[in-house]
Amino acid sequence: MLEISHLTKIYKGRAVVDDFSLKVDAPIFGFLGQNGAGKTTVMKMIVGLLEPTSGEISLDGAPSASAASKRRIGYMPETPYFYENMTGLEFLKFCDELDGSARGPAAGARKGHYEALLRRVGIYEARNAEVRTYSKGMRQRLGFAQALVNDPEYLFLDEPLDGLDPVGRREMKETMLELKKEGRRIFLNTHILYDAEEICDEMGVVHEGKLKYAGPVKEFAAGKPLEERFMEAVGAREKAAPQAHTSPRA
Ligand SMILES: Nc1ncnc2c1ncn2[C@@H]1O[C@H](COP(=O)(O)OP(=O)(O)O)[C@@H](O)[C@H]1O
Ligand SMILES: [Mg+2]
Repeated sequence: MLEISHLTKIYKGRAVVDDFSLKVDAPIFGFLGQNGAGKTTVMKMIVGLLEPTSGEISLDGAPSASAASKRRIGYMPETPYFYENMTGLEFLKFCDELDGSARGPAAGARKGHYEALLRRVGIYEARNAEVRTYSKGMRQRLGFAQALVNDPEYLFLDEPLDGLDPVGRREMKETMLELKKEGRRIFLNTHILYDAEEICDEMGVVHEGKLKYAGPVKEFAAGKPLEERFMEAVGAREKAAPQAHTSPRA
């Protein structure tokens, strides 16, 4: 279980994450919010890439940024950084060795493990091509494989479906559902409501660094279109709705 307690991040006097508390125990949790809401900042603090200004984050009772927790975490950044001259296969090996925890298959079976991951994310055929030849979608898939290299129990994915075409999106969502069946927990940042509705068990809505909702997706929607509820939750309703009985002025 992930527990975030009174988490705050202040940049230049502004709280971009503002006294944020949340408990997540769902197999797939969707973290929704508009651009700039604070999703990436929260995720970076969870995985230990950013220091909170204040507050605590624990994973099954241990600090999420501790070495022990990090071994159990896979993280896919919003814009993964690649070494362009490495092949996909070399890149996974590099990330695995950098990570050093070697969870998953034993040393002798690591190469097969990387190949299986590349097959799983659909870029096995390109495993020996240099990353600089990869399309945006292939990079996104390689970033996903990288997040899985240490056989993580918890996955933190920051806008993982971005840059994928409809087939890629479908495949990645199916892979996420398989990972859930394997007993892994997924925390997914997204600004796409439909994705949350489709694959998430629970969701959270963040707006200007504050949590506006956390709970089952169905309860949030409460029989209404998700988009309408989302607009209400972030207070964008009036701005978004067309004004009745007003004619445009010349
Ligand atoms: N390093 C930084 N310095 C100052 N402001 C930042 C920094 N990183 C993010 N922010 C601001 O924090 C807010 C939240 O950003 P972010 O977490 O990236 O949102 P999201 O991922 O939901 O789009 C935004 O207003 C962004 O401009
Ligand atoms: Mg972001």
